[in-house]
Amino acid sequence: MPLEKRQEVYDICQAHEVMIYEDDPYGDLLYAEKTAIPKIKSFDQTGNVIYAGSFSKILAPGSRLGYLLAPKDVFDKLVLMKQVADSFANLYWQYLASQLIDDYDFNEHIDYLRQLYKKKMDTMVSSLAQKSDDNMAFVVPDGGYFISVKLNDDIETEAFYDELEQRHIGVIPGNIMSAAGSGYEQYFRLNFTLPTLSEIKIGIERISEAAAAAKQTKSPVI
Ligand SMILES: Cc1ncc(COP(=O)(O)O)c(C=O)c1O
Repeated sequence: MPLEKRQEVYDICQAHEVMIYEDDPYGDLLYAEKTAIPKIKSFDQTGNVIYAGSFSKILAPGSRLGYLLAPKDVFDKLVLMKQVADSFANLYWQYLASQLIDDYDFNEHIDYLRQLYKKKMDTMVSSLAQKSDDNMAFVVPDGGYFISVKLNDDIETEAFYDELEQRHIGVIPGNIMSAAGSGYEQYFRLNFTLPTLSEIKIGIERISEAAAAAKQTKSPVI
């Protein structure tokens, strides 16, 4: 979200006394050569913003451990709600995360992840650029885990997903990632952090083949 929009969201919520939950699990994983956009929390003068980070993307997804910045009274209530919801976050993982932060240079770890993931993202971007033909378009993200790809409108998504399945490729359909649940039929999401560099190349090759094959599939005339 660009800075102006963040500021605007904050101002509107301030005016209407609505709290903001700033969900930012990917905030540390920036790969673009630009400075990070200030968090909404940084505008907060009145304690109207709860900032949430997660260890899921920078330590291990299975940790299901995160952290919050919130005004003390709100924070205390959230802690209580969390305890009621799941009888405490996993103690072992809390201990592990705490030890890691104390004993290791966590910023160095983040720098390592940035370098590793940037390399993977660059590999996916160049593979997509080579293999997209005229069938797919994508935007290079500034950070995070994913690239959103748009299939050209002349490709039937059902046929595309069938072709992907035959090639043992899994993607996240766009509608699943949309709050409205519709309107993103031609989009799908790719993860670049988990696969190896060679898996990324093979994956994009197969996706490109699937798109080309789906293009050949004519939808039935009703
Ligand atoms: C945008 C966003 N918020 C929150 C989460 C949840 O992270 P956690 O594993 O800490 O519950 C995720 C994880 O996929 C996410 O993508």
